[in-house]
This record gives sequence, structure tokens and C-alpha cells, in this order.
Amino acid sequence: MSESHHDDATAGSTSIRPFVVADTDGVVALWRAAGLVKPWNDPHLDIERKLTVQPELFLVAETVSADGGRELVGTAMVGYDGHRGWVNYLAVADPARGTGLGRRLMAEAERLLVERGCPKLNLQVRTSNTEVIAFYERLGYVIDDAVSLGKRLIPDAPR
Ligand SMILES: CC(C)(COP(=O)(O)OP(=O)(O)OC[C@H]1O[C@@H](n2cnc3c(N)ncnc32)[C@H](O)[C@@H]1OP(=O)(O)O)[C@@H](O)C(=O)NCCC(=O)NCCS
Repeated sequence: MSESHHDDATAGSTSIRPFVVADTDGVVALWRAAGLVKPWNDPHLDIERKLTVQPELFLVAETVSADGGRELVGTAMVGYDGHRGWVNYLAVADPARGTGLGRRLMAEAERLLVERGCPKLNLQVRTSNTEVIAFYERLGYVIDDAVSLGKRLIPDAPR
């Protein structure tokens, strides 16, 4: 399922593959830098939980430079609940933004969901995050005429 891309800003080969535990620190650092870690979410717990449900759909993008150095530059936490597909924690490292990596991560998420028979992908974006809404619209997503409701079942105490 890997694919490569050689002309992006990171000047290396960037491939998309499933998360492995050794990626944890890099992923959490990327999420923090991308502003995705909120006080009510413990990123380590979120990773632990994802590893119990469809871990193969937790994607990371990694760049390998000419000298063999490896760097995590993107993530997408994908899931299929039997009715809808979901993507959470879509993030691209700042230097790699605008190179098509976000589009590639979403394309891979869509491919994996279609492969599993998922008919529709849903996304939640904070209303204030207008830039990301524009990104998703560029990829063909439309704002549904629906209100998003939630109820926290397990409070996560920050570690
Ligand atoms: C959203 C994000 C993943 C986009 O990643 P990216 O790699 O920069 O996006 P791409 O380069 O693949 O862009 C894909 C398309 O969207 C467009 N696009 C990207 N950012 C955009 C923006 N802010 N406004 C409008 N269009 C945008 C690009 O122009 C591109 O269009 P094209 O392919 O038709 O030329 C990245 O900005 C990010 O990590 N943001 C912070 C984390 C975040 O908020 N995640 C979403 C949580 S819901």
C-alpha cells in the first residue's frame, strides 16, 4: 500500500504506511506542533485505543532522506464503523505542507475505506478551522446539513 513521491519540499521519498509503536513520540510531537492536542484529549491514550481497533487504518507518512534519515511528516487515523468511515488526526508537518501530502493521506484513507465497502466518509472539523474546511472542500468534501453532537463517556485525565 506504500506509494512514493520524490519532488516534495522535504526532498526525500515520502511513503505512507501503518503506524508502529516506535512512531509514538514522533506522532505526538507532530500532533502537538499541528495544534491537534487539546486539553481534553490525551494523545497517548488515543493511540493506545486506536491500536485496539483497526490499527492497520492508523496511517503515518514518513520521509526517508538520501542519507537514510527518517522523519514522520504526516498522520491520518482512519476507521470504519460498519456504516460510515471516519478520519481523525489528519496532520502534515509544517515544512511538508502544500506539497500534496494531505491529499495523498486522504486518498489512501479513502482507498482503504472503499476496499472495506465503506459508502461514506465523515469528518469533524472545528467551525473556527476555516483553512482546513477549505482544504477538505478542495478534495470534494461538502458540509453536511447536520449538527454534530457528542457525549464524553470516559473522561481522560491529562498525564
Ligand atoms: C490540513 C492539512 C493536513 C493539509 O495538508 P497539506 O499537505 O498542506 O495539503 P495538500 O498540499 O495536500 O493540499 C491539497 C489541496 O488542498 C489545498 N489546500 C491546502 N491547504 C489549504 C488551505 N488552507 N486553504 C485552501 N486550500 C488548501 C491545496 O491548494 C491543494 O489543492 P490542489 O491539490 O487542488 O492544488 C495541513 O494543513 C495540516 O496538517 N493542518 C494542521 C492540522 C489540522 O488542522 N488538521 C485537520 C484536523 S480536522
